[in-house]
Amino acid sequence: MMITFEGIEGAGKTTQIKLLEKFLKKRGYNFVILREPGGTIVSEKIREILLDHTLDIENETELFLFLASRSELVKKVIRPALREKKIVICDRFVDSTIAYQSYGRGIPERLIKTLNNFVIKDIKIRRTYLLDYDPKNYGIRFNNKTKDRIENNDLDFHKRVREGFLKIADQNKKRFLILNAFEPVETIHKKIIDDLLKIL
Ligand SMILES: Nc1ncnc2c1ncn2[C@@H]1O[C@H](COP(=O)(O)OP(=O)(O)OP(=O)(O)O)[C@@H](O)[C@H]1O
Ligand SMILES: [Mg+2]
Repeated sequence: MMITFEGIEGAGKTTQIKLLEKFLKKRGYNFVILREPGGTIVSEKIREILLDHTLDIENETELFLFLASRSELVKKVIRPALREKKIVICDRFVDSTIAYQSYGRGIPERLIKTLNNFVIKDIKIRRTYLLDYDPKNYGIRFNNKTKDRIENNDLDFHKRVREGFLKIADQNKKRFLILNAFEPVETIHKKIIDDLLKIL
């Protein structure tokens, strides 16, 4: 079963996944935790390029790099894990590509959906947790951190990406649970556990 976490930078995806990891471990579930872009040797190399703030990358190139990274991850890790009936938890996945590369960068959504489907084929995401907050508060969780290439975009970009995520969630109501990223970490965690236990 595949579970994804989505949301703009600093929303708390990684924080929540770490808490979930502890919970699943304690309960003895068979699971694997992955992040995009990354998770294979080639995908991690692509990640380095994507996040390097010294590089100027064209929008189309960026899209194909994300998709290339995903192709490796799907074939080498996700598909085998799903075959072994593991719970696959992914920090960002196909919805991030639509939110960032379409709503953010302006590449046609239909094209991205087609390419996403080409890469993941029959893989179905069972549940997506969207950590949502208003990006006018963008940056408040970035104290002292050097911004990467994507975090360097302006406020308008992050607003469009957030709107993108909310639209995707609205179009896929059954798959998504939207969580207020400004609630306390433990409150959000409890909501995720309560929800997940219904489908595990
Ligand atoms: N609910 C919360 N309330 C307050 N602070 C939080 C909350 N969730 C996460 N944080 C803090 O916000 C910062 C960003 O969280 P985190 O790294 O989990 O976000 P992220 O969504 O994974 O971001 P990125 O997309 O950049 O990887 C961290 O310092 C984390 O401790
Ligand atoms: Mg993170």
